[in-house]
Amino acid sequence: MKPAGLVSLVGAGPGHPDYLTQKAVRRLREADLVLHDALVDPGVLAIAERAEWVDVGKRAGRPQISQEAIQRLLIDAGSKGRRVVRLKGGDPFVFGRGGEEALALRQAGIPFEIVPGVSSAIAAPALAGIPLTHRGVASAFVVVTTADKAVSTALIEALPPGLVTIVALMSFGNRAALATQLLDRGWPAQTPAALLLGAATPRQWTWRGALNALAACEPPAESADAPGTIVVGAVASLDLSLVHGELPPIALASSVARE
Ligand SMILES: C[S@@+](CC[C@H](N)C(=O)[O-])C[C@H]1O[C@@H](n2cnc3c(N)ncnc32)[C@H](O)[C@@H]1O
Repeated sequence: MKPAGLVSLVGAGPGHPDYLTQKAVRRLREADLVLHDALVDPGVLAIAERAEWVDVGKRAGRPQISQEAIQRLLIDAGSKGRRVVRLKGGDPFVFGRGGEEALALRQAGIPFEIVPGVSSAIAAPALAGIPLTHRGVASAFVVVTTADKAVSTALIEALPPGLVTIVALMSFGNRAALATQLLDRGWPAQTPAALLLGAATPRQWTWRGALNALAACEPPAESADAPGTIVVGAVASLDLSLVHGELPPIALASSVARE
């Protein structure tokens, strides 16, 4: 009889193991094999102490393992009855190609499950003290990547300036183009913006400023190649990250100040 394997597509959260779900921890402990992305924290991997770890991360400057090869590895291990964790940064279904892997597993008849993770789209702003939908300031946010230029361009054209908070992933290197596009679309030059690098990692670094200064902001060398999330919109000027001590004065939109 064929042994019962299971492939778990697991979200590892933004970095530090504190942001793993309990189910993710359980699946890591049970795993025989972990196929992980480049951005996954060593402390997260260490939880899978009895597993074989394979780095299938795609990053610049090294030979890339193709998406098809990753899917073949998942199918092969699952069909041999192994407990496999496919570990991805953030949430597996947010810009993570988890959908393609789930589809390939379904087509191959391999049992699989999705274990949601805390997406950096949510975690990076939260850890910087930016409430994405602060009442009276912003009542919606969109998550976009400039890596898909056609979609991000169409979206920015369609959005009235200042209407929503924009959260941009995989856009750190394109920050100048993103800022130019928003300014050309009529977003005020003084619209607050934030660049959040390496959230929940030792390289965490936050920049805040005006939209027209985003292109020129330069992180320190130790954070320069950390993954980055960009927030544009009035909420980006808020900083509710302090737990102790005096909070800095916060300029809220007039509608909030009246409440
Ligand atoms: C390929 S996408 C994967 C997103 C992931 N599935 C998620 O839900 O967070 C990678 C992008 O996520 C963002 N990112 C990942 N980890 C981050 C972190 N610790 N701090 C800030 N942004 C991060 C960056 O924009 C990075 O380019």
